[in-house]
Amino acid sequence: MTILSIETSCDETGIAILERTNTDTVILRGNALASQIDIHAQYGGVFPALAKRAHAEKIVPLLQNTLNEAGLLEAKTDESSIPDLSFLDEKESALKAYLIPFFAAYKKPAIDCIAVTTGPGLEPALWVGINAARALSIAWDIPVIPINHMEGHIVAAAIEKKGEHVYLFADISFPALSLLVSGGHTELVLVEKFGVYKKIGQTRDDAVGEAFDKVARIIGLPYPGGPAVSKLAQEWRVATKESHVQNPFSLPRPMLHSGDFDFSFSGIKTAVLYAARDKDVLSDNDKKALACEFETAAIEVLVKKTLAAASEYATTTIIVGGGVAANIYLREQLALAAGNTATLLFPESWLATDNAVMIGLAAATQVISRNKKTRNPNELRADGNLSL
Ligand code: KG4
Ligand code: ZN
Repeated sequence: MTILSIETSCDETGIAILERTNTDTVILRGNALASQIDIHAQYGGVFPALAKRAHAEKIVPLLQNTLNEAGLLEAKTDESSIPDLSFLDEKESALKAYLIPFFAAYKKPAIDCIAVTTGPGLEPALWVGINAARALSIAWDIPVIPINHMEGHIVAAAIEKKGEHVYLFADISFPALSLLVSGGHTELVLVEKFGVYKKIGQTRDDAVGEAFDKVARIIGLPYPGGPAVSKLAQEWRVATKESHVQNPFSLPRPMLHSGDFDFSFSGIKTAVLYAARDKDVLSDNDKKALACEFETAAIEVLVKKTLAAASEYATTTIIVGGGVAANIYLREQLALAAGNTATLLFPESWLATDNAVMIGLAAATQVISRNKKTRNPNELRADGNLSL
């Protein structure tokens, strides 16, 4: 079973090809990602209309690269007809202009199904991926599996690397707890098994990745802010480790004792803004100290609530997913706090932030469980608020 997956929910255009072998091993045959960071950096966040345009321009060239990498791109030798793509005329003419020469030039590849993110995310961006999936499904006469982007983040953390490009799903003792931390989401989810999820808590305002991005902006760091804020924070920790210098900033730990599993990050972000305003000029040292106090506060809340949830629901496996799962300090602190009470699963860093491999992996879990939820491609819809 070979799956072609498509991810366009936010500011990364991703295409991947995964092959599931008889032994439930997954082989990564091809993977391509185009980031729009340069396009959005000037706005300090993602600009939906520009995201849509960039996805439409990138998706077909990436498709070609990925098929080529997988050894599946074969030139047509005849003049066979190209499919009717008139459904793209009104809203997706840019995508159509790329797809027509693609279908004219290449044969149907040995792909068995298409997996595409249908939400959550930016709807104009999601539609590009969905419409591309629809066109490929019609042209190649293969089914489409709609995938929830957040499920992709969970599954990307639940695999073990067995060799170059070879992965196996981790042997998980269900129910597991998943902490999902990205630019749009901060959630605690009970994973009964792959495909069966129950949300037990979520942020009431900003997502933690969004807070990292906003703090970065306040202290003058580029978008996306997570890695940059984290780097400064670490520099402060290293510099003050021996000297035991006190951090001059002190930020709140919102909802730490709220008695539920919800989060709130807009308060910390505002506190960072006020702390920065109180200083006429933020020195490099101030920036490091503020970044460190922010990261420490945000991660403390995440870690404490995650462990409280693991205890309440008696889960011994914690799956951490989403862009912020790449954060080294989160990994360290969660490991320290969990000790030997839980097995922690993190994605490889390159799989933590958005990509299409995780969408293909989520589809592979459905194939493995023989509960493949295919849909008529004409009925696919983007749902910006799709929930697990
Ligand atoms: O999952 P993702 O790629 O996109 C969404 O689905 O939102 O997550 C992106 C978010 C951004 O907010 C980014 O700043 C954050 O993940 N991020 C990090 C780190 N790497 C990415 N935040 C903290 N530390 C990191 N190392
Ligand atoms: Zn994401």
